[in-house]
Amino acid sequence: MTKPPKSAAGASRQRTKPQASKAAARRVLVLHGPNLNLLGTREPHIYGSETLDDINQRLAQLGRGYGAVVECFQSNHEGALIERVHAAKAQKYAYIIINPAGYTHTSVALRDALTGVGIPFIEVHISNVHAREPFRHHSYFSAVATGTICGLGSRGYDLALQFALQPKN
Ligand code: DQA
Repeated sequence: MTKPPKSAAGASRQRTKPQASKAAARRVLVLHGPNLNLLGTREPHIYGSETLDDINQRLAQLGRGYGAVVECFQSNHEGALIERVHAAKAQKYAYIIINPAGYTHTSVALRDALTGVGIPFIEVHISNVHAREPFRHHSYFSAVATGTICGLGSRGYDLALQFALQPKN
């Protein structure tokens, strides 16, 4: 670490000017793909009994604890998710957390949107996709994600958010 320069002998001490504005709150976008609006009633033996609203509220609260803003968006439409990713660039989101749900295994277009805006992202799956049907074993997102969390239930979102909110990430 470089040391701050020593003041010249005899020079009067000067207070550092307070910064004009505080750093903007870190913004994280959480994207949920198709059918995740059904959480709570959808195959609870696989996805648990929490609703999407429960998860989103918990993430917003967790974010506030870090002084960050967390926005959540769910859509059953590929184009709507793509457009939300495009908008995130201008809105200065620092990180995206995405559960692409069924689009994980099909969507080159959603992957291209994420690489296109260049916002780092973490892929989350509630279930362990590798322990399920073979068509769920391939993800179009994992190779371009910072990392992937799967099989830890909805806790995976919390862990992803905690990672995204570390100042060095
Ligand atoms: C999922 C796993 C996907 O295979 C599935 O299509 C989903 C949810 C998960 O969170 O475990 O909709 O992404």
